[in-house]
Amino acid sequence: MCGIVGYIGARRAEDVLLDGLRRLEYRGYDSAGKATVQGEAIHVVKTPGKVVHLTEALARTPAPGSVGIAHTRWATHGEPNQANAHPHLDCRGELAIVHNGIIENYDRLKRGLIERGHAFRSDTDTEVVAHLIEEYAAKLPLEEAFLAALRDVVGTFGIAVVSRREPRKLYAARRGSPLVVGVGVNGEYFLGSDPAALIPYTRDVVYLGDDEAVVLTDEGMETFSFDRTRIQKQREQINWTVDEIERGRFPHFMLKEMTEQPSVIVNSTRGRLDVDNGLAKLGGLKDVDDRLRKIERLSLVACGSAYLAAMVGEYMLEEYAEIPTETELGSEYRYRKPILDPGREAVIAVSQSGETADTLGALREAKEKGALTLGIVNAVGSTITRETDAGVYLHAGPEIAVASTKGFVGQLSVFALLTVLLGRQRRMSQATGSRIAAELAALPAKIERILAQSDRIKALAKKYANAQSMLYLGRKYNAPVALEGALKLKEIAYIHAEGYAAGEMKHGPIALLDPSFPVLAIATKDSIYEKVKSNLEEAKARRAPVIALTNEGNDELVRIADDVIFVPRTIEMLAPILNVIPLQLFAYHMAVARGYDPDKPRNLAKSVTVE
Ligand code: M6R
Repeated sequence: MCGIVGYIGARRAEDVLLDGLRRLEYRGYDSAGKATVQGEAIHVVKTPGKVVHLTEALARTPAPGSVGIAHTRWATHGEPNQANAHPHLDCRGELAIVHNGIIENYDRLKRGLIERGHAFRSDTDTEVVAHLIEEYAAKLPLEEAFLAALRDVVGTFGIAVVSRREPRKLYAARRGSPLVVGVGVNGEYFLGSDPAALIPYTRDVVYLGDDEAVVLTDEGMETFSFDRTRIQKQREQINWTVDEIERGRFPHFMLKEMTEQPSVIVNSTRGRLDVDNGLAKLGGLKDVDDRLRKIERLSLVACGSAYLAAMVGEYMLEEYAEIPTETELGSEYRYRKPILDPGREAVIAVSQSGETADTLGALREAKEKGALTLGIVNAVGSTITRETDAGVYLHAGPEIAVASTKGFVGQLSVFALLTVLLGRQRRMSQATGSRIAAELAALPAKIERILAQSDRIKALAKKYANAQSMLYLGRKYNAPVALEGALKLKEIAYIHAEGYAAGEMKHGPIALLDPSFPVLAIATKDSIYEKVKSNLEEAKARRAPVIALTNEGNDELVRIADDVIFVPRTIEMLAPILNVIPLQLFAYHMAVARGYDPDKPRNLAKSVTVE
């Protein structure tokens, strides 16, 4: 989704801005632009398409200045063309603005501004803010005008503004759309909608909260609320390295991140597993331990892959911790007037980025209704981590590829830990706790064995690369994994794929099957294996090509299926962690075989910060 970068200091702003934009490319966007200020002049350059086009345009017309803002736009209001790209200017070109989020009342504001003589150059919602500030700035100092305009706006924003009236100042503010200030050495400041933009320059950061604004100058930074009350902010340290956000020897981030999955299990369980005593220790939940012991119901809220990980979590928590659990889409939960039982219910927001607007909306709904709120999040310091009562980090490291892979596996690992924690607080035996813990600890080596099959899966992908549609089947713990496999294929290979709980096939999708409609069935040896095997036979009887995913040593599916992928065995509740990996690899190799860039799928954004 949209990205913001800002800079004030002694360097050439353009270099820092372009570098930052490149680091935000993974978020998905369709145009880019920048504004730098020097003396009385604002230099704006914007281009449709990729940052490389902006770079080329800037090479032709380099602009001076050591203060500036830049943006990658993911179109919401208006086509992805040059006019709609950010930054946007006011009528007189006095100020330039970049914006992430949606101004919900832009239509009404725009009509009023036009009546009062403002001329608009774009179809965006963002441009109204530039004109609003302009209008207030006719009577007020710029800082007050900026805040007054923000008070008029309904919706979500991360916003940054530079002006030739105050050429050595950078204004920024947030409501619902993340912004982080990087504090550099020698009085320079960086601004980013994602810490990835700042990491090469500083690890010292200040996260802006909702309804907070900041003014960055050569003298320092000041943070305040929209009514101008000063706010003291804490500096925090980012602990990722530049290597973690760079691709290194890998052709794509997605491949790099899939390859990192053994260490995701190691890192997400480090210091948290006590195999001998069958316990899980989650420091982030220590403060709410008493409340957790009283919980009688759990709601898991999430979107996309995180939602599917939560569905697996629901199976784990109900079977082993014996807590009634419901998984809900954030986008539905927030509007469906959920009935909560505060005191006895916890709501867990599951999100890799910690910024997904719908998940955040659901979390706020739960908070308002008085539930204990928890987060299962990867991105340290993200909004969800700051708005929940307590939470557990994945420690999976930054996930750059739009398609979530290691984030999903990290979420499953944390759900397993949470299941042991809550289960042992209730009726789970030490032996069961120890068995789960020992199996979790054994997963990294097993994941390595699956990753070693990448070339075989690549060959399989070549065979199926021309498929128009696919059906993914799985049951019980693996039903959500089938959905995740289908989601991955849709997202990056642009193949229509249906994910189904295998038992449902005969209730509808079986009608689709014919020799051109491959079926991928997860049929690992578990309590429901024989049933899935029957579904697989049913698909074969309709002459659908069948790819079976089963356990090493189970050769009986070779007879039924056209192709078989073998994975190591583990206990049923942890099988999704292994079974999803060949599906990720398959989608990745399908995308590459079809000539697509899996890291930058069309129309998608990494972190969906608008509704
Ligand atoms: O950052 P989140 O986990 O909250 O993101 C949720 C979804 O937007 C995300 O999982 C999306 O479905 C991915 N593109 C899946 O690969």
